[in-house]
Amino acid sequence: MVAKSKNTAKRRRHGAGTTTPGDIHAAGAAPEPKAARKRATKSRIRRLAMLTGGGDCPGLNAVIRAVAKTCIHKYGVACYGIEEGYHGLIYRRARVLRMEDVSGILTLGGTILGSSNKDNPFSHTMTLDGKEQTVDLSAECVNYIKQMGWDCLVAIGGDGTLAMADQFAKMGVPVIGVPKTIDNDLSATDYTFGFHTAVQTATEAIDKLHTTAMSHHRVMIVEMMGRYTGHLALEAGVAGGGDIILIPEIPYDIEAVCREVVRRSRAGKRFSIVVVAEGAKPIGGEMTVAKMVKDSPDPVRLGGIAHVLADQISRKTHLEARATVLGHLQRGGTPTAVDRVLSTKFGYHAAELAVRGKFGRMVALQGHDVVDVPLEKAVAEIKKVPVNHPLIAAARAVGTCFGEPEEKC
Ligand code: F6P
Repeated sequence: MVAKSKNTAKRRRHGAGTTTPGDIHAAGAAPEPKAARKRATKSRIRRLAMLTGGGDCPGLNAVIRAVAKTCIHKYGVACYGIEEGYHGLIYRRARVLRMEDVSGILTLGGTILGSSNKDNPFSHTMTLDGKEQTVDLSAECVNYIKQMGWDCLVAIGGDGTLAMADQFAKMGVPVIGVPKTIDNDLSATDYTFGFHTAVQTATEAIDKLHTTAMSHHRVMIVEMMGRYTGHLALEAGVAGGGDIILIPEIPYDIEAVCREVVRRSRAGKRFSIVVVAEGAKPIGGEMTVAKMVKDSPDPVRLGGIAHVLADQISRKTHLEARATVLGHLQRGGTPTAVDRVLSTKFGYHAAELAVRGKFGRMVALQGHDVVDVPLEKAVAEIKKVPVNHPLIAAARAVGTCFGEPEEKC
């Protein structure tokens, strides 16, 4: 108990912008105006808070806008934005979101609330009495939610953010999840928002690499994000006409990769495009780790496989090879029309769940329909690319090589 109140004091010092309900009302916010209160009769909640957690992606603002506009305009529910994901929940930083705050943000990349892919309220490393300690601050976060009078927490994020939301749900917090990530690796939804934009960005990059690859007769290796899955590399690789696509779900044989670039070269195609997912690994080998990020729910940061491959390919084939790592470019920029539409549908559906008091759910796309599924089920495992994916079959049919030992491309 004593340790907890000490934690609170230290966290408040750290989080300069600590927000209390009093602060918000003192600042002149009127979260529940008279007219709004009238409309609120249809809603089972009066105040909703949302946060965006994990790596950002295009479409986050479109979701924030859709949740807030539906809540405020249609139901008179007051909306709050927690700043920088779970960091803001730990350090008590939130602000009221009014209609004017969420107007004009549909096309804006990033998130107006900020995000963090490091802060975990259930295991938070901080300096206490001059010593670094890892503490569980979840109960304090729940108290903050109660103190603020939030009847619903909308967590917009990937598997890490949603798994923590599920932990809060199990502590009795009314939670709704919205699936985001350029990796498209969340089960229970066919697509996450942000993925389509990342595919588009990566495809444009492959198109550009094609022209310079042709001019210089080079092997261009382009590395994409996606963590432990190859959804992004597969879709962008097919859309960009990659000659070889390497994904984590199909471990590659470097000899097969080299054979294919040499075969192409001898056949008069004096360039090759190799699209590689950051999580791709050789048969019997490991993924390439760029660094470890302490305190992150998943501390592993992948990266660097394109350089490893460029080195191996040029040594083994004597063809000139170059590596390009697309990195965070894939997470930036304005969302595509598809992502704007999906984000709006997701945000609207999340708000409708909230006002009906249907908690512990994650919104999801199944076929053409936006549905909702138990949050617990949605975060149970990540969604990998099935090796019998129809797109892999189509890619093989048009001659794309996946780096398998006996593959005839
Ligand atoms: O999950 C989104 C993602 O962009 C992954 O594709 C990538 O592996 C990771 O985040 C990168 O994280 P960071 O922003 O910490 O470098």
